[in-house]
Amino acid sequence: MTEHLSQKIFPTTQLEDADGEGHNSSINPTMGEIISKRFSRRNFLQGSLAVSAIAATVSPVALMTAEKARAAGASAFSFPEVEAGVDANHHVAEGYSADVLLRWGDAIFPDSPAFDPTKQTAAAQARQFGYNNDYVGYIPLEGSSEHGLLVVNHEYTNPHLMFPGLVTIADGKIKQGPLNKEQVDIEMAAHGGTIVEIRKVDGKWQVVPEGRYNRRVTAATEMQLTGPVAGNDRVKTSADPTGTRVIGTLNNCAGGVTPWGTYIMAEENFHGYFSGELPADHKEAANYKRYGVPEGGYEWANFYDRYDLAKEPNEPNRFGWIVEVDVMDPASTPKKRTALGRTKHEGAESIVAENGKVVFYLGDDERFDYVYKFVTDGTYNPNDRAANLSLLDTGTLYVAKFDEGGTMQWLPLVHGQGPLTAENGFASQADVLIETRRAGDLLGATKMDRPEDVQPNGVNGKVYVMLTNNTRRKAEQVDAANPRAENAFGHIIEITEDGGDFTATSGKWEVLLKCGDPSVAAVGATFSTETTKNGWFGMPDNCAVDSAGRLWVSTDGNNNKATGRTDGLWAVDTEGEARATSKLFFRVPVGAEMCGPLFTPDDETAFVAVQHPGDGGDDWEGHGRPSYYEDLSTRWPDFKDDMPVRPAVLAITKIGGGKIAV
Ligand code: FEO
Ligand code: CA
Ligand code: CA
Repeated sequence: MTEHLSQKIFPTTQLEDADGEGHNSSINPTMGEIISKRFSRRNFLQGSLAVSAIAATVSPVALMTAEKARAAGASAFSFPEVEAGVDANHHVAEGYSADVLLRWGDAIFPDSPAFDPTKQTAAAQARQFGYNNDYVGYIPLEGSSEHGLLVVNHEYTNPHLMFPGLVTIADGKIKQGPLNKEQVDIEMAAHGGTIVEIRKVDGKWQVVPEGRYNRRVTAATEMQLTGPVAGNDRVKTSADPTGTRVIGTLNNCAGGVTPWGTYIMAEENFHGYFSGELPADHKEAANYKRYGVPEGGYEWANFYDRYDLAKEPNEPNRFGWIVEVDVMDPASTPKKRTALGRTKHEGAESIVAENGKVVFYLGDDERFDYVYKFVTDGTYNPNDRAANLSLLDTGTLYVAKFDEGGTMQWLPLVHGQGPLTAENGFASQADVLIETRRAGDLLGATKMDRPEDVQPNGVNGKVYVMLTNNTRRKAEQVDAANPRAENAFGHIIEITEDGGDFTATSGKWEVLLKCGDPSVAAVGATFSTETTKNGWFGMPDNCAVDSAGRLWVSTDGNNNKATGRTDGLWAVDTEGEARATSKLFFRVPVGAEMCGPLFTPDDETAFVAVQHPGDGGDDWEGHGRPSYYEDLSTRWPDFKDDMPVRPAVLAITKIGGGKIAV
């Protein structure tokens, strides 16, 4: 009866899918008229070799025979590949163990109530592991790879999967809600992040509920605005006339751990939480339009005025920031570091440059939005943690312009420089940061195919940019850095900063990989011919670099009949003859996306986050099959009739011990 009904009826599913048009209407050139010659050459190769689907997609590397590549010892990864597919469970490479470490509702304090899905309360949720785990970081205690703090973002909530009795189907129509106040409060407590001590005992990771640093940060935790925007009139509200105190953090997608051991939570799709209408001719109207505010997918404005634009028109300017949490002080106030700009931040991975400055790479995850980096003014001092704690308040934010010839520029978003002047509505650096996207528009930044994780690799000196997809890119909008129209499967760009200096304002770039099924010539995927039918993927989202400098990519969106695979974690060669070879290491249960991943410093554990399991089924394309509390496509990971599907973080280790994939 429900075959024709769509999972996209559920508002938070729709929001997570970035199902809108994108909000960049600026006229920056997309370079459609100047498609680079080097890509034309590749197009020619694809056309002339189209008789062989695989050969049609090859790079010069892939033209090698498989035997020759193997003889060269090509791949840096050694593990038996998982078979791609779709079912109710997760799967890890043979010889490895993937153990559930933390599920939604699990205890993280000695007094945490046991999880009971039929008796949920906000008070209980605030003492338990939150929902939809995304970013996973590990902060070693005393340098250990077997004892540390796990920091985990809880990006968003899926009320249709969380609450019994919320979804009804009648007359072929599916309806959700409305949510009551307690359910909204549970949602708010299920957002944010978890900081929890973990320890490896006899080869298996355990949570330490008594850990002195254990903490929940939620959408109800008080935060401080710091940096150039703090105290600005545009962030003042009736509850906060100082413009410095914000309640909560929202939609924390990916993140980072700084070199000084703080936890970064990136605020991504904050527009979904706001409802209502701005007062007529309000000065923030154009600003909010550029960010898609309000989207109204959540029902929080029914109970909290701060999410209602009519009542608190400045509140959305207080979200979309990078949040820094000092995990060593569980009573500390998390800081919204405004110097890093206001976008739909995917994450903020960092590296210490040779000159001691710290460089943070940032993706703004929306169709046609930009890649950024932030360079601190100050330098990292390994012996002065207190000084490091203010590094994120002063520095330069840059936006990326990818030239068609394989060079690039990082353009500074600095008030008074270029078009970022009062004449264009920027009275100060605070205005530039509040309207980071418009500043990028005026500088002529390159419109990208949904920038997700951007990961510096300290071993090979490169930077990897995950571009998840953009089916709205038209042929005339194709450019060298976004080379496919209707880019359904995404691609990965590799940046080499000039002089090998991460603080450089110019660099070179190339496409490491165009994703998708290489057996379909029209897709134009560029995996090496060593890549098996299990090894290709689409929709790169999060990534990690292990201590050997090897790239691991996790995905969001493969979960449908058309690709014959769920999302998962793939090992991707970047060096030598094996470059662009990919192998499937782990796959998620039906309906889920793969977040994390993160390796301990000894490379003996990979933490992965299974997000929104059961949000959809496998007998459809896209999110066509409704899956909700009473009719779930999987009851992973417990598989008990009285327990709903639960997002969870897993620890993957080699059976018998040792480094992963070696
Ligand atoms: Fe929350 Fe960009 O993924
Ligand atoms: Ca993501
Ligand atoms: Ca995602």
